[in-house]
Amino acid sequence: MRIGIIGAGSMARALGGGWAAAGHEILVGARDSAHAAETAAAIGNGARSGTITAAAEFGETVLLAVPVSALADVLTETLTGRTLIDCTNAFAPDSGGFILSEDAVAERIAATVSGAHVVKAFNLCAAEVWEGAVREFEGRPLLVPLCGDDPDAIALVSGLTEDLKLRPVPAGGLRRARYLEATSAFVVGLWFGGQDARAMFPPLEATFADAD
Ligand SMILES: NC(=O)c1ccc[n+]([C@@H]2O[C@H](COP(=O)([O-])OP(=O)(O)OC[C@H]3O[C@@H](n4cnc5c(N)ncnc54)[C@H](OP(=O)(O)O)[C@@H]3O)[C@@H](O)[C@H]2O)c1
Repeated sequence: MRIGIIGAGSMARALGGGWAAAGHEILVGARDSAHAAETAAAIGNGARSGTITAAAEFGETVLLAVPVSALADVLTETLTGRTLIDCTNAFAPDSGGFILSEDAVAERIAATVSGAHVVKAFNLCAAEVWEGAVREFEGRPLLVPLCGDDPDAIALVSGLTEDLKLRPVPAGGLRRARYLEATSAFVVGLWFGGQDARAMFPPLEATFADAD
């Protein structure tokens, strides 16, 4: 599949690297051509670089790997009809963690680019996790919740998730993406505070007293 990546930072490198290794064609687009070229070289496996417009034109699927504050600059009509993967987080520091500086970002992307199929994904873990080889922790596979309204786009991003050896979990429509955004702000705040956020929850089998 042809995947355009808008942005040339940590997430572009981590996700693009995995997809290129899985055989997908990658074009990294950034405002700084040297940074785009450097990231494409780091991704390897034939990844190319270009402008933001070039990445938008190239990708049947386009990863938005920029700060939320940059979305207004990169969302153009060229993206109409594309599957857009939104991995963004809009964090602002708050006492004891983070709050969202903007919410419902994925829904806003969908409202801005009419005809695009937005899927929120990959915003919960750090780029180092996506880039790493570990796909199971304490005997449990790492799950990637996906929120989006278009079944074909969800199926497509599920496949791209499996290509990274991760387990996709369709988690409802795009209106639920705002919960992924809030979850990320809350959990990352705990991690930054040195807390093991994973330990907040029991395993599934111990979640309820009685099985329904
Ligand atoms: N890093 C993580 O662990 C992580 C995890 C989950 C989600 N996220 C989210 O993923 C997104 C990307 O994060 P990242 O860590 O990859 O960021 P990053 O390493 O800082 O890279 C950001 C990229 O966005 C570009 N950019 C910034 N402002 C721009 C603008 N106004 N117009 C066009 N391009 C602009 C930068 O351009 P230059 O090439 O010119 O520098 C750079 O290529 C963010 O929304 C972040 O919250 C990150």
